Amino acid sequence: MSIPLTGQTGPSDADLIAEINLLRKAKNAVILAHYYQDGKIQDLADFVGDSLDLSRKAASTDADVIVFCGVRFMAEVAKILSPEKTVVLPDMEAGCSLEDSCPADDFAAFRARHPDHISLTYINCSAAVKTHSDIIITSSNARHIIDQIPKDQPILLAPDQHLGGYLAKETGRDMVLWPGSCIVHERFSEKELIKLKTENPGAPIAAHPECPAHILNHADHVGSTSSILKFVLESEAETFIIATEPGIIHQMQKSSPDKKFIGAPGMDGECNCNQCPFMALNTLEKLRDCLRDLSPVIEINEQDRLAAKAPLDRMLEMSPTMASNRPPTSGRAY
Ligand code: 13P
Ligand code: SF4
Repeated sequence: MSIPLTGQTGPSDADLIAEINLLRKAKNAVILAHYYQDGKIQDLADFVGDSLDLSRKAASTDADVIVFCGVRFMAEVAKILSPEKTVVLPDMEAGCSLEDSCPADDFAAFRARHPDHISLTYINCSAAVKTHSDIIITSSNARHIIDQIPKDQPILLAPDQHLGGYLAKETGRDMVLWPGSCIVHERFSEKELIKLKTENPGAPIAAHPECPAHILNHADHVGSTSSILKFVLESEAETFIIATEPGIIHQMQKSSPDKKFIGAPGMDGECNCNQCPFMALNTLEKLRDCLRDLSPVIEINEQDRLAAKAPLDRMLEMSPTMASNRPPTSGRAY
């Protein structure tokens, strides 16, 4: 049995970052990070963005390897759009509660019960669910895509009931909704939010549309992660309440160091309950390991890839290139 040496620790962040920088050059890799990743990962990424930004970036990069610091469905999108590249994810367990809420067989049966409905499917779903979808949407482009669908065409929206409910209200369209939700955005407390707002009367509330209606009803701005970021950067206010995963506050603080950002509280004011447990699985150490070993790797059989690509291509064709309005947040700090 080996006895650990007192005070022995793993490699420092600086050592890991140096190793990652050597490896990314050696492997001709591009590192993509979602706004919910740990700040250290955002800072070394070649590109930081929301789901739509990252899909576009995945489609356009000429690297041999894509390291996707996000969750599994995002890395799958990269593989679907770039089959010739090796796509790795630091932790294959990094899933998503929305994806989990919507098994492909149940979704196919749901579609079969609504044969006249077009299926708009939120990108937070498995590749298998994408194969049964007509058009993929993200929170950046959903409104714009719905506006292009004829008014007499019935819509089915899956898997996020809160995003669907918000879009139905905004567009005045009747929609059949799949009853899924995000465990992170569902945990904000309306009671605590009202209390926080009373303590910070001038602070606008910015919320992601994955929040339930009782939270969105208090929001001054509702939008995707990049849209929330743009809102706080352009606003004259000094303090903001942010109702989405707190990882995004890293970019806000970097771009506006004089402003104050307060994460919206969870149930009973507990903190940290709104951190996405799936995003948090990715660490600098796992990022180094997946670059070094090119594993865990995303694999999708060609038939499924092509079937999942069709609704993603439709999404990209129907989305204006300026849709996400990404602020200049690509990360590298070296
Ligand atoms: P965005 O597309 O706004 O980045 O959202 C992705 C996500 O998973 C939110 O929980
Ligand atoms: Fe999925 Fe919610 Fe995490 Fe986004 S925050 S990846 S929707 S579990």
